[in-house]
Amino acid sequence: VNKGHGVKGLSELGLETLPHQYIQPPQERFDHTTNEEPNIHCIPVIDMSNWDDPDVAKAVCDAACKWGFFQIVNHGVPIRVLEDVKDATHKFYALPAEEKQKYSKERSVSNNVRCGTSFTPEAEKALEWKDYLSLFFVSDDEAASLWPHVCRNEALEYMKCSESVVKKLLEILMKGLNVKEIDETKEAILMGSKRINLNYYPKCPTPELTIGVGRHSDVSTLTVLLQDDIGGLYVRNTETMKWVHVPPISGSLVINVGDALQIMSNGKYKSIEHRVIASGNNNRISVPIFVNPRPSDVIGPLPQVVGSGEKPLYKHVLYSDYVKHFFRKAHDGKATIDFAK
Ligand code: SIN
Ligand code: FE2
Repeated sequence: VNKGHGVKGLSELGLETLPHQYIQPPQERFDHTTNEEPNIHCIPVIDMSNWDDPDVAKAVCDAACKWGFFQIVNHGVPIRVLEDVKDATHKFYALPAEEKQKYSKERSVSNNVRCGTSFTPEAEKALEWKDYLSLFFVSDDEAASLWPHVCRNEALEYMKCSESVVKKLLEILMKGLNVKEIDETKEAILMGSKRINLNYYPKCPTPELTIGVGRHSDVSTLTVLLQDDIGGLYVRNTETMKWVHVPPISGSLVINVGDALQIMSNGKYKSIEHRVIASGNNNRISVPIFVNPRPSDVIGPLPQVVGSGEKPLYKHVLYSDYVKHFFRKAHDGKATIDFAK
């Protein structure tokens, strides 16, 4: 009926019941009364007006150690750029089905551009209530010829403007590990490749039976996430094992540590499980940028971290193998565990 229109198409059929493929097993559903942490704990919100302030650096490193997640405000990425990429995301999903189909797994001319629903449909126990467009950045020229016209410039600009934020955050985080300088080699390992996703979570007839994105941690070094004002992203509090809401803050960016940085920091910075619930009332969008090592990089605990006699917690692994390992599985938890020494 709605081929090519993804979950958004299903949502717009106005169904009263959820198609059975999307019904999650009870343990993966989100029950606010038992799963949600009361509002006493909140991930830190850090004002980046002064990047050189030692208190700011401390707040960033502390947040990366304790929560693996924080929000930044006054970060320097122009608000207009953020608004433009959100508008562009809505425009992409408003395209006719035939247009979006051009980027499906079956039809896309490149693996670097992919539109789909769910995460690893073949591995999932049940599908996720979400559509995505995933754009792996290779070069401006490639983006100009392959990325969808309606969102290409906006996605590129958001990516470019976030780059210096990412670099400055990584400098702070590396200093916190006694890595004084990010030379070219280190920069390539930390942020040598990038992917941007345009996510669409349509409103759902029975949100309590399904999930927007199942619990997972990111494979990235760092993720920069732009969310709209709907809300629904939850982060694991590893002490209570309950889920803490990440409230939308206008103009902010959510930053999280990914598995690659957890491994490189020998577990000091935490890549934390997170998930997105489905909403019964609103369509939600989010636009994460995944800042990654290059596929050909070997990652492991940094020499500066384990040099002082500290026991390495993780094996070295080719980054592309790590990603492959991660994508073999469904969204049901963390993958770093499997690389523990
Ligand atoms: C994700 O972690 O995969 C998406 C996060 C979000 O949409 O807020
Ligand atoms: Fe994620």
